[in-house]
Amino acid sequence: MQTTAVILARRPGQTFVAEDLGLGTIDLPDLSAGQALVRNQYMSLDPSTRGRMDPGEKQYTTNFVVGGPLDGSAVGVVVESSSPKLPIGATVRHRMGWREYAVVDDSAATICDISVAPATAWLSSLGQTGFTAYAGLLPVGLLQPGQIVLVSGAGGAVGSMAGQFARLMGAGRVIGSAGGAEKCAWLRDDCGFDDVINYRDGDFAAELPQLAPDGIDLFFDNVGGWQLAAALANMRINGRVSMCGAISNFGTQEQPSTAVLIETILRRVTIQGFIVRDYEDLRGEFERRVIDWLASGELVDRSTIVEGIANAGAGLAGLLAGANVGKALVRLSE
Ligand SMILES: NC(=O)c1ccc[n+]([C@@H]2O[C@H](COP(=O)([O-])OP(=O)(O)OC[C@H]3O[C@@H](n4cnc5c(N)ncnc54)[C@H](OP(=O)(O)O)[C@@H]3O)[C@@H](O)[C@H]2O)c1
Repeated sequence: MQTTAVILARRPGQTFVAEDLGLGTIDLPDLSAGQALVRNQYMSLDPSTRGRMDPGEKQYTTNFVVGGPLDGSAVGVVVESSSPKLPIGATVRHRMGWREYAVVDDSAATICDISVAPATAWLSSLGQTGFTAYAGLLPVGLLQPGQIVLVSGAGGAVGSMAGQFARLMGAGRVIGSAGGAEKCAWLRDDCGFDDVINYRDGDFAAELPQLAPDGIDLFFDNVGGWQLAAALANMRINGRVSMCGAISNFGTQEQPSTAVLIETILRRVTIQGFIVRDYEDLRGEFERRVIDWLASGELVDRSTIVEGIANAGAGLAGLLAGANVGKALVRLSE
């Protein structure tokens, strides 16, 4: 059997464009014992996919090969199976996205209970997105009730979850930053952020101390660059920075000097980077809490959905440019 897949056509230049990807046909192997054929329904669009197109070695994942297919998180329905763990008709999550059909090993796929949340949520609030927010706040950020929390990239997938989780875990105040008035209004009106800075139209460094005159206890950073520099200058003594992502590094914008790190000394700030996959032992408690928050209506899970595999490259370019509100997904089939 063959399937349509997204192929890395060439390594991107400084700015990723949809034409860096192409569509191709790849062979799928016959099922071996312990495998299933999955018709993919939705796949996740992730900033890390852009990083994996570069040749430089990553510490936590593999890079794509020019001419070869991409991969990434997806959910789909089992249509053929050689595994009792993956029955036909089950909805499963796995890492063989960027293709319409996939052969997956049962050791690398998990069943999604779509009676508690729709398939899309298993890539968003209940997926690696939500889990990243959870890990970044608790084992990394050591969030305490009453603390003042700042989340950059708050209008996106991880950021919108991080801010809402912080609120639900008892943060005293949650401040976000996002690009554009629509995202800022959504975060304030629907997601319960106390304040949001529109960093594209405003002056983040000037607005932050006005919104947090007593400083920030925990900064959940998705962005890096100038927002990180400004946040460091507004941290409380012994504050923490949970370094989730540095998406501003992908662009062409000039980056601040490491001289800003003097603030970590003056303010005794702890900065900790993390990779979500190191926290698998927390997966069960994370899912139980998020299922409860979704059921009670306290947690908003919003997706921006691009239609069809042919538009996946444009969807990724849109994500990197800020086109998504909440989680960016591609619908591959009904
Ligand atoms: N450490 C981990 O294990 C882990 C796991 C998953 C994700 N991450 C990281 O978490 C971050 C968020 O990922 P996500 O999947 O939730 O993506 P996302 O936030 O849904 O999408 C990316 C967003 O980044 C913003 N952005 C783009 N360029 C920017 C710039 N130069 N400065 C400021 N913001 C910019 C855009 O929103 P605006 O409109 O607001 O600009 C865009 O919507 C990424 O840095 C990602 O690499 C880390």
